[in-house]
Amino acid sequence: MRSRRDFLTHSTLAAAGLALGACRKGGEPGPAPRPEQPRSPAASTSRPTRGALLTRTIPSTGEAIPVIGMGTSGSFEVDAGTPEYAALEEVLKVFFAGGGRLIDTSPNYGPAESVLGELLARGGHRERCFLATKLAADDLATAKAQWAESLRRLKTDRVELLQVHNLRAWEIQLPYARELKAQGLTKYIGLTHFRESSHAELERIVRAERPDFLQINYSVASPQAARSLLPMAQELGVAVLVNRAFEDGKLFAQVSNRPLPGWAAEAGAGSWAQLFLKFAISHPAVTAVIPATGKPNRQADNLEGGTGPLLTEAQQDELRSMFR
Ligand SMILES: NC(=O)c1ccc[n+]([C@@H]2O[C@H](COP(=O)([O-])OP(=O)(O)OC[C@H]3O[C@@H](n4cnc5c(N)ncnc54)[C@H](OP(=O)(O)O)[C@@H]3O)[C@@H](O)[C@H]2O)c1
Repeated sequence: MRSRRDFLTHSTLAAAGLALGACRKGGEPGPAPRPEQPRSPAASTSRPTRGALLTRTIPSTGEAIPVIGMGTSGSFEVDAGTPEYAALEEVLKVFFAGGGRLIDTSPNYGPAESVLGELLARGGHRERCFLATKLAADDLATAKAQWAESLRRLKTDRVELLQVHNLRAWEIQLPYARELKAQGLTKYIGLTHFRESSHAELERIVRAERPDFLQINYSVASPQAARSLLPMAQELGVAVLVNRAFEDGKLFAQVSNRPLPGWAAEAGAGSWAQLFLKFAISHPAVTAVIPATGKPNRQADNLEGGTGPLLTEAQQDELRSMFR
């Protein structure tokens, strides 16, 4: 059996136009369900063998998920039949072959749910996938219609995580998400936002409502969550997904002519993308980070960011100071 590093190397070659070889195929079952465990205050990190994708546990159940997930905003907003669409098929193959599971989407991302649903079905990836989508509606009737449409577009009868997008009408949508959870239509519920200006409101709501998941922005250039939301999530046992770890790609423009720090190799990072992702997952409250890409070689790069050592406090400080 090949090691994960072999898988990634292989995937990178595939992205360069060479044969991918055997990746996991259709209908493959995910890991056996773990027994439900009481919510623990801090998620634990399991680090199996060197080169393997790290996992963290979801505090409300103890279920383990890989620390590198993927987003679909922008990258999955493409038309069928285009080269970008074909590339996404490879992006998903690389993701699942490299041990990935969690994919985040939303009815608000143009055709992304339809594109994702079609490609998951075509590749036989659905059972392996930890699928997260959102409610983004102002009233209950619209949310009900939107949820039905999300299931249709995603070609599924349930999701693993249903989140209230950007806190939109959360007083209506969170109880609705809870109702769907009680019916077994979603395993977990959550709240999302992508701006630091939302953090105070998120903190108040999470303390009162205790969702399973919180999805927030956290990066070398937007590190505020480490001061309030992340310690709170650890204290309360709420899983955290990190969006915008690359500031929607803007961080790469800032490092285009910059060499990696001297300690990068020692930290197991071979690219800036890997350093930015390692920064996010080095906070113990973070369950997974969800970078978005439409390029298979970048998907392989991103998965590598979830292997090897985490960053020390000093390394995290140095990165933060570079992007102040
Ligand atoms: N409110 C919310 O719920 C909310 C808000 C924001 C985001 N999100 C979720 O979080 C996900 C991630 O956020 P995001 O998409 O805004 O931004 P992001 O992940 O910070 O950045 C994505 C950008 O980085 C580039 N990129 C990805 N991997 C790369 C690599 N290895 N090397 C160089 N460039 C790379 C991508 O370009 P290419 O595609 O060309 O590779 C894309 O332009 C979203 O897709 C969405 O699922 C949720």
